[in-house]
Amino acid sequence: MTPTAPASVPFLPWNQPSIGEEEITEVTDTLRSGWLTYGPKAARLEEVVRDALGVQDAFAVSSCTAALHLAFLTLGLGPGDEVITPSLTFCAVPNALLQVGARPVFADIEPTTLNIDPEAATAAITDQTKAIVVMHYGGHPCDLTAFRKLADEHGLILIEDAAHALHASRDGHRAGSVGDLAAFSFYANKVMTTGEGGMLVGRTDLIRVARPLGRHGIDSSAWRRHGQRNTADYEVTVPGLKYVMPDVTASIGLPQFTKLPAFTARRGEIAAVYTAALAGLPGLTLPTTLPGVEHGWFLYSVLIDPAIAPLDRNQVAQALREVHQIGTSAHFKPVHTLTGYRSLITSPLPVTEAAAAQQLSLPCYPAMTDSDVDRVITAMHTLWSS
Ligand SMILES: Cc1ncc(COP(=O)(O)O)c(C=O)c1O
Repeated sequence: MTPTAPASVPFLPWNQPSIGEEEITEVTDTLRSGWLTYGPKAARLEEVVRDALGVQDAFAVSSCTAALHLAFLTLGLGPGDEVITPSLTFCAVPNALLQVGARPVFADIEPTTLNIDPEAATAAITDQTKAIVVMHYGGHPCDLTAFRKLADEHGLILIEDAAHALHASRDGHRAGSVGDLAAFSFYANKVMTTGEGGMLVGRTDLIRVARPLGRHGIDSSAWRRHGQRNTADYEVTVPGLKYVMPDVTASIGLPQFTKLPAFTARRGEIAAVYTAALAGLPGLTLPTTLPGVEHGWFLYSVLIDPAIAPLDRNQVAQALREVHQIGTSAHFKPVHTLTGYRSLITSPLPVTEAAAAQQLSLPCYPAMTDSDVDRVITAMHTLWSS
């Protein structure tokens, strides 16, 4: 390995949010307004996301994890229920399923997209199966048509963990618009951010149940009660939790959502430059975009085959970090291999395990300059020629 990057080169992080004056102005406006918690700005963010996706309703919440937990509570999932989901994902879905007492059943993934494989999901259906939770890996939507059909044929609920995929689509369907419910993340590293935040979208009848569950079980929001009737005059219709998005947070989200098409275009541009420049490096598999897909490019995810490439995944990550001052990330440690999950009985997941050992996410975000992109490309070529 040849150390080439001068020590003075600043560290290029794997991810960085793009926050501008618009977000600062909107937050300042909220701080001055006297209304900080869930209110007009959160409601506005719900409207713009709902209208852009063409879904029936949207509920702005404190995180994608909160949205998923609310989804499972809304559906009444609990002990004895099985829910099919991938293991090559973040722990949020399986954690929330276990929190409501339901059992995650992991199905294997497609080797090309790393999305849950419709055939593996079909094979995992039992009499106990109540729902399928798909996850749009890295912003490449799953086969939504196939999963909708599968769910309908078996009388199952379809939920989309669309944390990576706001602004992505497949066969004309926006990610998050096909499931009975879908959850988005506005965490700091996502395609748009509010710092922490999320959105639950989907069928009106379900969102109507989710809303009170996300505000202590109280029948209407404090904002709607405020000034209209005595704030002490409320009813708790169901034992709920506190998951609403504050207006301070929504104020970051409103301009971010306006910028999302431009953010996605820049991510796509970087991905195209990487793909042109890195194609042909031995043992390096670049991301696939299937026909009919508008990729969200949350991740530029590569696979490194240690039998062919000069270095394995961990060695590449270490050299990029220590020699070239470039951050990367891995998505994900398969959930079934995590300590808290080892007692869960899982059928073999060979594609998941093989992909997880080879997967690396390169920096790909709108705040990157062209010279940042060139730095990553040069570093990869240097590693492959050492
Ligand atoms: C696939 C997936 N689902 C859910 C989440 C949870 O999102 P949040 O941090 O907004 O709860 C993440 C976060 O990284 C994720 O990657």
